[in-house]
Amino acid sequence: MDHLRLTIGPSILTADFLRLGEQIAAAEAAGIDFVHVDVMDGRFVPNISIGLPVLEAVRAAAGLPVDVHLMIVEPERYVERFVAAGADLVTVHVEATPHLHGTLRMIEEAGAAPSVTLNPATSLSAIEEVLPLVRQVLVMGVNPGFGGQSFIPAALGKIARLRAMLDAVNPTCRIEVDGGVKPGNIRRIADAGADTFVVGSAIYAPGRDVAAAVAEVRRALDGPAAAASVSA
Ligand code: DX5
Ligand code: ZN
Repeated sequence: MDHLRLTIGPSILTADFLRLGEQIAAAEAAGIDFVHVDVMDGRFVPNISIGLPVLEAVRAAAGLPVDVHLMIVEPERYVERFVAAGADLVTVHVEATPHLHGTLRMIEEAGAAPSVTLNPATSLSAIEEVLPLVRQVLVMGVNPGFGGQSFIPAALGKIARLRAMLDAVNPTCRIEVDGGVKPGNIRRIADAGADTFVVGSAIYAPGRDVAAAVAEVRRALDGPAAAASVSA
């Protein structure tokens, strides 16, 4: 696998929604690569977050690719509307749709990059058949639904096994890791085989200086292999 460029994107889930445009601009000015939008329906996950109108606002505010993570049941009913609202990439959960192959094709035909994700308890075998179809696989570092959780160390092995599977069938496919990614563990996660990092509460938290937080995450990622504990 040729080295894929390492990229970082904040999840806006824990941003200050009264100043969302400013928060996105601050992260962009600090040098992020994409914006991650967590959509939650209160059924697939025990939380309700944001939907199409907020995505349209994010699209208008962001000058970078918008990566939409659908934590919703029946995503096939909505993927086209999320692409129309501004998603450049749409990630669906294998656990949320009985016709994953068709749903991923729908995303691509709507003009966005198809991406699949799986919860911590879901085996990689559940997505093996669609690996050739996707531009990205998102490996959950936490059980989905909330920001601010601790990284599940078992995800490291899953990332490494997934990289080996992708190198055989889709070597340019990216591995995104989402949930519990912090300056103290991001290097270890990269060394396991991830190349795309969603960072939520380590960038967006009450009173946090966004630029300083982005710089700290980037330094940790680009720095030497870290010995820090994974769930830091
Ligand atoms: C969790 C979301 C993640 C989360 C990341 O269900 O998919 O994107 O917001 O936030 P942190 O980095 O705080 O775990
Ligand atoms: Zn997410």
